[in-house]
Parts: sequence; C-alpha cells; structure tokens
Amino acid sequence: MEQTLAIVKPDAVGRGKTGEIIRRFEEAGLQICGLKMVRMERREAEQFYHVHRERPFFESLTVFMSSGPSVVMVLQGEKAISTVRAIMGATDPAQASPGTIRREFGTGIERNAIHGSDSPESVTFEVPYFFAGIEILRFGM
Ligand code: RTP
Ligand code: MG
Repeated sequence: MEQTLAIVKPDAVGRGKTGEIIRRFEEAGLQICGLKMVRMERREAEQFYHVHRERPFFESLTVFMSSGPSVVMVLQGEKAISTVRAIMGATDPAQASPGTIRREFGTGIERNAIHGSDSPESVTFEVPYFFAGIEILRFGM
C-alpha cells in the first residue's frame, strides 16, 4: 500500500473538471484518504514547487498555481504514485497519451490540470505540506 498527493490545479477547478478527475482516480481503484480545497498564496506555491526554483518557468508556474482554488487530495492504493502519474499523462498535454487527464483537460504545458507526486521522497514532503496527520485516513496501513 502506498499513498500519494494529487492536486487538481486552478485551471481544471475553474473549468469544472474536479468531479470528473476524482471519478477517474476512484475508477482506477484508488482510495481517497484526504481531500480539501485550498487557495495557495504565492509564497505557498513557491515553497511547494521549490525544487523548480531555478527553472525558467518557476515564476509563471507559481503565479498560475496561486491564481485560484486548487483541490488537494491524498490517494492510497497499490503503486499509487505510478498509477496516478499514468492516469495524469505526460507534462505537456500535447505529448500526453489519449485518454489521460492532461490530454483531455490540459490546455498547455503549464496549465496541465493536475499534479501528482513523482517519488516516495516527494510524497514525504508534499503530503504533510497540505495535510495534518489527523486529516489523513490510513485504510489498512
Ligand atoms: P507536476 O509536478 O505538476 O505533477 O508535473 P510534472 O512532474 O509532470 O512536471 P514538472 O517537471 O515537475 O513541472 C512542474 C509543473 O511546472 C509546469 N511546467 N511548465 N513552461 C514549461 O516549460 C513548464 N514545464 C513544466 C507544469 O505545470 C508542470 O506540471
Ligand atoms: Mg513534478
């Protein structure tokens, strides 16, 4: 059993895709064990994406991520990290496989609808970034 963090980004929340995205995760057998809506401040988006602080897209990305509400969730299942990444699709929606969330709901390499943790190390940072221990259920863990 593994947990991972996913974020429905402000573009997808704004376009009313939250329910459809969550439906896809549930359909894949992932269990929701934490869920809430947040409006990140710019500083909070910068801290969340600090691994990208030297990248040319950092400023634009953090402006975007703080531009409106996001829906953050903890998902649990066998191989949850790679399962969520597969359902999301490649970073650039134009390169993402048909049927993936980014291919269907993303509108550009930045406005790509969804985030998912990319490794156990990322999960260890990202889950507690948004959730206190009492807010996360641990089914069978
Ligand atoms: P994420 O962290 O959001 O799940 O996405 P990812 O692993 O597929 O991609 P990553 O390289 O970690 O990039 C983080 C987010 O930054 C934006 N981005 N913009 N303009 C660009 O070239 C560019 N490249 C990445 C995207 O929103 C990407 O998801
Ligand atoms: Mg990433």
